[in-house]
Amino acid sequence: MKKLWKNCHIATMQNGQYSSIEHAAMVTSGQHIHWIGTFDDLPADAYSETIDLNGAWVTPGLIDCHTHSVFGGNRSVEFEKRLQGVSYAEIAASGGGIASTVRATREASEEQLLASALKRIRCLLKDGVTTIEIKSGYGLDYANERKMLRVIRQIADTLPMTVRSTCLAAHALPPEYKDQSDAYIEHICNEMLPKLHQEGLVDAVDAFCEYLAFSPAQVERLFKTAQSLNLPIKLHAEQLSALGGSSLAARYQALSADHLEFMTEDDVKAMAAAGTVAVLLPGAFYFLRETKYPPLDSLHQHGVRIALSSDLNPGTSPALSLRLMMNMGSTLFRLTPEQTLAGVTTHAAHALGLQETHGTLETGKVADFIAWEIEHPSEIVYWLGGDLPKRIIQHGNEILI
Ligand code: NIG
Ligand code: FE
Repeated sequence: MKKLWKNCHIATMQNGQYSSIEHAAMVTSGQHIHWIGTFDDLPADAYSETIDLNGAWVTPGLIDCHTHSVFGGNRSVEFEKRLQGVSYAEIAASGGGIASTVRATREASEEQLLASALKRIRCLLKDGVTTIEIKSGYGLDYANERKMLRVIRQIADTLPMTVRSTCLAAHALPPEYKDQSDAYIEHICNEMLPKLHQEGLVDAVDAFCEYLAFSPAQVERLFKTAQSLNLPIKLHAEQLSALGGSSLAARYQALSADHLEFMTEDDVKAMAAAGTVAVLLPGAFYFLRETKYPPLDSLHQHGVRIALSSDLNPGTSPALSLRLMMNMGSTLFRLTPEQTLAGVTTHAAHALGLQETHGTLETGKVADFIAWEIEHPSEIVYWLGGDLPKRIIQHGNEILI
């Protein structure tokens, strides 16, 4: 059952560039790309269907490689407080912040969590996101982390998207372990993570390495457990202070280290040597009115892959459009539209360990692509939000939304 998609231009995003093919065509066979090239070179074959894309620009489906999109409640009241002058760290210290989302998430049933997450993730899907990573981290005990991870698996069963689940049990200290952060880390390593992994609920492990969360030594303990379970590693690092978490992540061959505003030159070198992806999160940078920029020149200079993501979460980035984040990534971090698009396709695929199957358009990869009604791929980054007309194709099938 081969389908011919014709009358389009294609930004394949190979090598982190547009790598465009103008006057192109693509043949899909089932879920995969069978052939891609210029229309003039199309081999003679029989097709079960021919789809005219009317001159659209085709890109890989977008990949949102860092989200906390499953959670109870929201934190708009806290947003109001922050604008009255209370800082994120002060709110966290007074029992708000992540702890308030933990309370709301623990109170919610699986059905409620699924329903609210689906509303948010459908916004991302409509925006062109066909692959999403979702973290736990608002349950902070076995039953509630399990509940979140089960909801993440249900999202994969409900929506036409590739969904990766990341266990972020080391996101914050639960009230049951007040002043006992080492004991909580031991509990994650000895009980929670092995069990959750055994239940098939975990694709990767993440932690929040920060002075108001977990120390590098505690994170290293967790990484050792993740390694022994053969689980890939990611890390929230250097968001609010420089603790060397990104170097630690690199030493453990992490897929990515994320946020990175406070990282040092040594961290950059360590990530470059390990091939660890730098995931930048312009939504959190903007929403927290951060003024310290990630070391962009140094990241470029050392050839670190830069991915961009929404960080969709209730506290620091209530972002429902990855395209808006892309515009902000370009504007705030001076990434070109081409670099930005690479940041949500090929580099984001690397940040999830999905680079063999996702992130670029080439023969053998999954047929996840977007046909945008635009004049040039830079337009995907240029418009601020809105609903850019497009057709969304996932695993070779057009999604009608
Ligand atoms: O990526 N940095 C820690 N975690 C989230 C924030 C979570 C929250 O505030 O609920 C982040 O910014
Ligand atoms: Fe995050």
